Amino acid sequence: MSVPPPPEPITGARLLFSLDPAVSHLNHGSFGAVPVVAQRAQQRLRDEMEADPLRFFTQGLVDRIAHTRRHLAGFLGADPDGTALTTNATTGAAVVFQSLGLRTGDEVLTTDHGYGAVAHSIRRECRRTGATHRVLRVPLTATDEEVVQIVREGLRPGRTRLLVVDQLTSATARLFPVAAIVGVAGEHGVPVLVDAAHAPGMLPASVHSIGADFWVGNLHKWGYAPRGTAVLVVAVPWRDRIEPLVVSWEQDSGFPARLEWQATSDYTAWLSAPAGLYALRSLGVERVRAHNAGLAAYGQRVVGDALGVPPADLPDPGGPTVAMRLIPLPAGLATTLDGARALQTRIAERLAAQVAVTTWDGRGWLRLCGQVYNAPEEYERLAVGLPGLLAQR
Ligand SMILES: Cc1ncc(COP(=O)(O)O)c(C=O)c1O
Repeated sequence: MSVPPPPEPITGARLLFSLDPAVSHLNHGSFGAVPVVAQRAQQRLRDEMEADPLRFFTQGLVDRIAHTRRHLAGFLGADPDGTALTTNATTGAAVVFQSLGLRTGDEVLTTDHGYGAVAHSIRRECRRTGATHRVLRVPLTATDEEVVQIVREGLRPGRTRLLVVDQLTSATARLFPVAAIVGVAGEHGVPVLVDAAHAPGMLPASVHSIGADFWVGNLHKWGYAPRGTAVLVVAVPWRDRIEPLVVSWEQDSGFPARLEWQATSDYTAWLSAPAGLYALRSLGVERVRAHNAGLAAYGQRVVGDALGVPPADLPDPGGPTVAMRLIPLPAGLATTLDGARALQTRIAERLAAQVAVTTWDGRGWLRLCGQVYNAPEEYERLAVGLPGLLAQR
């Protein structure tokens, strides 16, 4: 079956990055890639910090952080007064869990598409407080309406203290109808944390339009920010109840300063995040989104064809700008987390291709991303090498 053509390349975009040209970087989703302009901005800030550390920390840093926060909130369509900078989605989620005041008999509800590290964090908070973690099963092929129905039926009002739902899932690269889910949970008085780790830069929905009680998103993935840049957005009723993981000097300043000031730390990633957004905007945000989603779809088809997967069996992520796509691996491969990690390393070493291998529901998946620095030939090369490598078990 013929594969639809790849999107027009964004000429010269690869030159904005310092990626090793000998490697196909097809996994932007895991740790992102920082454009040189943002790397340089961060280095200049570090130079300034090292030239006079006292001056850097005591004169104007708090204002610079506030300015950055407002800039990022504006880009995301979030209320700047409800936005706090944090280091990553995992930390933002942990801040929420330990601020809930969970007790014995309470539960935190998630789906089985949730991120593993976040699930660990929930389980630890449940062990500490006597609450329980309950997981809803959501079939990969469930329609948006079915997902909302599963959530509706799964809520236990009065007992479910928090529902955690991913905007775009990691292991299954699936867009969830988060605004509708927030609506249903709200009807039952259940607060929702939207784990939007992949949303900033990739997905157009504004944070405000989703209406969640808590929303956490990484700028260091699709927003091109230096690593260690994320935001936690909190609805008005919760702002006074949110506590930082580490208490420091701004504790009495309330939200968001008490969350942001995390003692002596390197704040330069946050301050250079606008330079990453500058790179994204200079390429054209809509253009980048369309390109990346189109290229990921192309890669999915090319590699899927090579593995003999019929197009109908290639999961559709559910949104026109989703730049991560799954291909099912042959049965028996990557059925555990360790197996997935080992296969991912083998593909990197043998085929010089960085991909994500995920495991979900007892089977292994290849997850491919599209990004402005990728070319169709990179997926085509992977398609040539992968069947042979997978055949050598
Ligand atoms: C859905 C989801 N949540 C949370 C995270 C964790 O992000 P971080 O490592 O930046 O905390 C990821 C990372 O890929 C993710 O996909």
